[in-house]
Amino acid sequence: MAISRETVEQILQTARIEEVVGEFVTLKKRGANLIGVCPFHNEKTPSFNVNPARNIFKCFGCGKAGDSAKFLMEHEHFTYPEALRYLAKKYNIKIEEKEQTAEEIMLQSVREKMFNINEFADKFFVDTLWNTEEGKTIGLEYFRERGYFDPIIQKFHLGYSPAKWDAFTEHAKKNGYSEELLEQVGFSIRGQKGLYDRYHGRVMFPIHSLTGRVIGFGGRILVNDPEKKSPKYQNSPESEIYDKKQTLYGIYFAKNAIAKQDECILVEGYFDVLRMHQIGIENVVASSGTSLTMEQIRLVKRYTKNITMLYDGDAAGVHAALRGTDMILSEGMNVRVVVLPPEHDPDTFGKEFSVEYVSNYLKDNAKDFIRFKTELLLKDAQNDPIKRGQVIRDIVETISVIPDSIFRITYVKECSRLLDMPEQTLTNELNKILRAKLKKTLGIEENVVTETDTSTTTPKQEETVEDQLPAGYYQERELVKLLLMYGREMITDERFDEDGQSVYEQVSVAQFIIDDLKNDECLFLDPVNKKIFDLFDHALDEGRIPDDQFFVSHEDEAISQLAADLLSSPYKLDQWEKYGIYVKREENMLRTTVLSSLYRYKDLMIEDRRKAIEEELKTTEDSDDQLILLKRKKDLDDIRKQINKELGIVIAK
Ligand code: CTP
Ligand code: MN
Repeated sequence: MAISRETVEQILQTARIEEVVGEFVTLKKRGANLIGVCPFHNEKTPSFNVNPARNIFKCFGCGKAGDSAKFLMEHEHFTYPEALRYLAKKYNIKIEEKEQTAEEIMLQSVREKMFNINEFADKFFVDTLWNTEEGKTIGLEYFRERGYFDPIIQKFHLGYSPAKWDAFTEHAKKNGYSEELLEQVGFSIRGQKGLYDRYHGRVMFPIHSLTGRVIGFGGRILVNDPEKKSPKYQNSPESEIYDKKQTLYGIYFAKNAIAKQDECILVEGYFDVLRMHQIGIENVVASSGTSLTMEQIRLVKRYTKNITMLYDGDAAGVHAALRGTDMILSEGMNVRVVVLPPEHDPDTFGKEFSVEYVSNYLKDNAKDFIRFKTELLLKDAQNDPIKRGQVIRDIVETISVIPDSIFRITYVKECSRLLDMPEQTLTNELNKILRAKLKKTLGIEENVVTETDTSTTTPKQEETVEDQLPAGYYQERELVKLLLMYGREMITDERFDEDGQSVYEQVSVAQFIIDDLKNDECLFLDPVNKKIFDLFDHALDEGRIPDDQFFVSHEDEAISQLAADLLSSPYKLDQWEKYGIYVKREENMLRTTVLSSLYRYKDLMIEDRRKAIEEELKTTEDSDDQLILLKRKKDLDDIRKQINKELGIVIAK
């Protein structure tokens, strides 16, 4: 059920960051702030900062930052609504639920009925396995034969569905469940002679949600059918409560171990999960034979950023490991791959060897994904130069999805070694892809691209972090920081009217910056900076100026993280003293800072565009085109002069 927007705001405004964090972390006063040992990474000297004035936390060691809700999401692995509910309870705020529509109430009751029949079925299958002759001799015997002990069979609620073609359907109907519901949830299928059981004569695996409710079933056939007339596994069809792409088998039993060990082992099948649990490795879930989805990855990400894929040693297993990994990397998670000996899957491997052997095998054979992929593809390509070229592009493409530039650089170094290629070649290739992506997300059209594209400038000798960031990145950040910190402050805008007379006007810093950038068509290139720019722009159009809390609590994690980051480091308005620029009046400082930040940013942008135009002039033959370019260059120089003049005036005062 959704919480109304007003209530969300009320909760976030009421919650005191120092009180929320204080329940989990011991905080000591340090000036206006509080400081403690960071709960998110290992450290001895405290670098975890709580800022009551801004109502945010930030760790200067690991970089985690945000508001009260973010802290709870990170620390308690809550979802956003869960964090809000926790805070509401703590501060006695009554949650105004959005009123439900008739349709929502209907859906709610359908879902309840489905959960209800699943629970009923779960009991029936478990009861049949343990307490009937057929269940014991066929079902229980099957599990024991495969080397499973009673505790694991009980823990996972494994069951047995009788061979009689409509045993469960009849039992359910007798207990008041409708045929319609039985078909909807998938227990019964309509044949020529009426309803029959989907799972008759199979051992049963209930599938649990994160909170432990049964949302579906998988049933395994007892003898392998060589003609494959019926499939090895029958699974619940998708329904209002069972969404395959959001489900990981075993997550309910694994989530605590995943968080504790800060690692999630991913396997393919039901039995692989069971086996690992039986030998005591509990941070294991299964994708159930299909390739990973974004939703499943996010589910894991609630508990850890580290995924280890444990796949069968055969070719199919190895190639399954390649699928879905770009998705994991693009979520900023770390992926490693362990390939088992060719004749094994995790189930048989865990059956044959001791837990020590298995743990050591995992430790010794876990390969970083990029490395795994590089070696695998190289083996395929051998010495074929065309294939090698494809491998390089393929690997660089994979590196390009990693959000963190420092990791990207590390991988480039590693791959340069593995591929025996100069680092610069890989970096150039990588930058090409990154730029293309950036342009795509920004929707920059071709003709504009030539003006802002930095690829025309000579390549630098050595790769640094900055080289992978768009030009003007830090200058952009500086402006974003000013917007966040001082957006609502008023400054005096001084313009000259037609007669050359000074006109003074009070405007907000936000209005001043946004208007100024729009006038000169300087748009931020970094996507997150751009989003913040747009949010200000829209709000100003509506006559509002969003405050820092709005950004810190923003649902877009990239925005809230950046806002918390920028707001956590103090802004020294007196930095100009350092440059020997003397500012007489205090209220001028803000204006000076705003103007000079704009100046530095625009100067950089303009320099870039001028260079691009000069390059273009060299290759332009047509005199009309040359004229246009020269005119554009002059316009840029005029803007530059204008900024210089303005800045000069301010500083001279
Ligand atoms: N699967 C399925 N339907 C099938 C085959 C497989 O849903 N017809 C899913 C199941 O979740 C299964 C997983 O894919 O656990 C992996 O398939 P597979 O390796 O064939 O099965 P195992 O789990 O190894 O089962 P077993 O050891 O009993 O053969
Ligand atoms: Mn198996």
